[in-house]
Amino acid sequence: MIDQALDNAIADGKTYGNPDDQHALFTRLRQEDPVHWSEPEGFRPFWTVSKHADIMEIERQQDLFTNAPRSKLFSIEFEDKVRSLMEGNSNLVRGLPQMDGMEHRTYRQITQAWFLPKQIKQLEERITQLAQRTVADLEQRSGETFDFYTELAAWYPLRVIMLILGLPESDEAELLRITNAYFGGSDPEMQKGSDLFQATRDFIRYFDGVSENRRAHPTDDVASVIANSVIDGKPIGHHEASSYYIALAAAGHDTTGGTAASGLLALIQHPDQWRRLQAEPDLIPSAVDEFVRWASPAKHFMRTAKQDYVLRGKNIKRGEALLMAYPSGNRDEDVFDEPFAFRIDRSPNRHLGFGFGAHMCLGMMLAKMELQILFRQLLPRVHRFELAGEPAWVQTSFVGGVKRLPVRVTMRS
Ligand code: HEM
Repeated sequence: MIDQALDNAIADGKTYGNPDDQHALFTRLRQEDPVHWSEPEGFRPFWTVSKHADIMEIERQQDLFTNAPRSKLFSIEFEDKVRSLMEGNSNLVRGLPQMDGMEHRTYRQITQAWFLPKQIKQLEERITQLAQRTVADLEQRSGETFDFYTELAAWYPLRVIMLILGLPESDEAELLRITNAYFGGSDPEMQKGSDLFQATRDFIRYFDGVSENRRAHPTDDVASVIANSVIDGKPIGHHEASSYYIALAAAGHDTTGGTAASGLLALIQHPDQWRRLQAEPDLIPSAVDEFVRWASPAKHFMRTAKQDYVLRGKNIKRGEALLMAYPSGNRDEDVFDEPFAFRIDRSPNRHLGFGFGAHMCLGMMLAKMELQILFRQLLPRVHRFELAGEPAWVQTSFVGGVKRLPVRVTMRS
């Protein structure tokens, strides 16, 4: 029998705006129905996959479970609107997450080298400067109460993205506005009067200018690599280039900012872990992985079965969609020792926060380095962080984390 309230909660952004509700829902699903046929009102049905092993089983078999045609959960109303706007296509953009097979490999290869550890390492010094700037901003606020996310954590990853895309500092505020609207989901506070259609149009308009500029004047940034790439002997298409920029600008921002703020919140709530990290900075890399597991800012991606398949005894039919619930896989009792304990030295930590397989996060090494550098700069300077109000999370079933983190900070003198 369908439990309508449970199914609706899976698709409802509000569930994810409250971590306790989110984890209660998925703990129940992992125990009672780990591969759950879900029929939320206003959405086409899909399977909700909540166990770590099952998510891995899907992610590992990219040829059997494809990203197209349904890589994310959208309401029927939204999908219809997209189809009417996009001449029958069910996606507003066609970036890496919407591609499969050879085409996906070809497009991913355009920037892959840019995101490998060797290349990322070359950015270390400049990213450190951006982190130092963030900590300097914090110094100014010593003794004050302010919102760590909106005033600090949201800016740092944006500046890193702008650094790799080679975008001018004067565009910061505009890009932040568009990204928030793009990822705000159903959260009215994040959308600020805009919507996903408008945000996509704004992104395209912005990046069209960047593309034209880099074709005329190529530099060594990622924007130039994309703008001047050649696919099957032809210059990259207009829509594909815009989609690529959008994927990078959008994917690299809220995820990393949300993780930084969620990581800080977890440290404030676990003072023993905070003291240990300050005393043992060598634990920063494993702490960052624990931040990502704990926050799981990407709530899901979807796949579609190319053929009939049996997953944990459930008969998945060809053409049916599966929603991989990463925050759930990351609290799976069968994989993680005490999954609800926040431990900066967790090892092993085989979390799924960056996904897995062919689509595994392209920016993973960059995100990890970025977060490690930020906390390496922050920890020795801060004497104390205190919560100065209620934190709040983005109400979205897709990507988001802490959106408000009122804190009081005392810096070391
Ligand atoms: C803590 C930060 C981040 C988290 C948690 C995260 C998470 C994810 C997840 C879960 C996926 C989907 C993986 C899958 O389908 O298996 C993904 C894909 C992707 N991410 Fe990230 N991400 C982060 C930061 C970044 C950054 C900094 C960038 C780039 C600047 C980036 C760029 C991308 C791109 C381009 C994809 C699509 C890859 C593909 O489909 O081949 N991400 N990310």
